Amino acid sequence: MTQAGAQPGADPAACAGLGVIRDGAIGSIDGRIAFAGRRADLPAGTAARDTIRLDGQWITPGFIDCHTHIVYAGNRAAEWEMRLGGASYQDIARAGGGILSSVQAVRAASEESLREQALVRLDRLMAEGVTTLEAKSGYGLDTANELKLLRVARSLGDERAVRLVTSFLGAHALPPEAAGDRDAFIARICTEMLPAVAAAGLADAVDGFCEGIAFSPEQIERVFNAARALGLPVKLHADQLTNGGGAALAARHGALSADHVEYTDEAGAAAMGAAGTVAVLLPGAFYMLRERQAPPVETFRRYGVGMAVSTDCNPGTAPLVSLLLAMHMAATLFGLTVDEVLKGVTFEAARALGLSDTIGSLEVGRACDLAIWSVGRPAEIFHILGHNPLFARVFAGNVTA
Ligand code: NIG
Ligand code: FE
Repeated sequence: MTQAGAQPGADPAACAGLGVIRDGAIGSIDGRIAFAGRRADLPAGTAARDTIRLDGQWITPGFIDCHTHIVYAGNRAAEWEMRLGGASYQDIARAGGGILSSVQAVRAASEESLREQALVRLDRLMAEGVTTLEAKSGYGLDTANELKLLRVARSLGDERAVRLVTSFLGAHALPPEAAGDRDAFIARICTEMLPAVAAAGLADAVDGFCEGIAFSPEQIERVFNAARALGLPVKLHADQLTNGGGAALAARHGALSADHVEYTDEAGAAAMGAAGTVAVLLPGAFYMLRERQAPPVETFRRYGVGMAVSTDCNPGTAPLVSLLLAMHMAATLFGLTVDEVLKGVTFEAARALGLSDTIGSLEVGRACDLAIWSVGRPAEIFHILGHNPLFARVFAGNVTA
């Protein structure tokens, strides 16, 4: 992070672990960072075509929302009302609602309509400094509809100044036409859906939902093996509602990330640390489900597990279009420090996408994706619930807001 200009009253110790540069300057050429350092160290005679002069604002890498299901149709407010009345997420899922009600809505929706609905949400996220967004499929659950979701996800990056990263989440839930046969559905994912998605170049990674109400570790393992055969990295919704050994499974497969991880145990955390698998924390879903067990943050620290923070933007467990709110929750509900939260939406989120060579830090050669904040200290970026202190957003060297 860097602070531009003098800021009387700013605490010099704030966020020391983030590599803060005071009175800094950033230069970009062709969309990449060409200089990042103290203004005083700018090479003599440096001239820029366009200059933004700042006065005390803070510059962070553009934020990365590394886990979303942003492409969906309709909403599930009625199910939320059922949950408020006492029904559990699992009860609703077993009765054919939950993910499957979004599957019905997505199958009935056109690409154009899905795009329009997703763009409304994307605009909210971008207005808070998001410059990279991951978007999953998983509400199609047959080849044509999974391809449809991924095409729409990719197209969001053409419609807006944002970097789009996609994940194929075929193993999200069992569709009704599978008639209860989970193994046969997994076989279809491995032999039909995944090869079609890979051939179309529509997925950057493969995800799954390892849970009692979804798929077993053995079933997920088959999907991961098929992904590896196609050269695609993997990640996993792991240990969200119960401890199913998902985090350890993800780590064993060298997954980029294990996500949710509320119920991950020490062995799972140790395996993640050894494998370099990032823990993606999703406090919006934790909050919405009124979950009681927070992820084992202290254990993750002990085993050197990087922690990312994301919205999980989806119609069921996290109807949330504010990364700043997710960041606030990660601090207040999960006990992350301000430094950890900021790393969680930049450096660690980039690692969770396998993109830390490209984005997520203010280093020469990285994409010049920036968020510029009108704040006196970094904690103010996400301190006030409902307040957005974004001053400007830069994507690939261009000011976009
Ligand atoms: O990240 N855990 C599974 N998938 C989503 C929920 C999707 C939904 O309820 O529609 C999640 O929480
Ligand atoms: Fe999710």
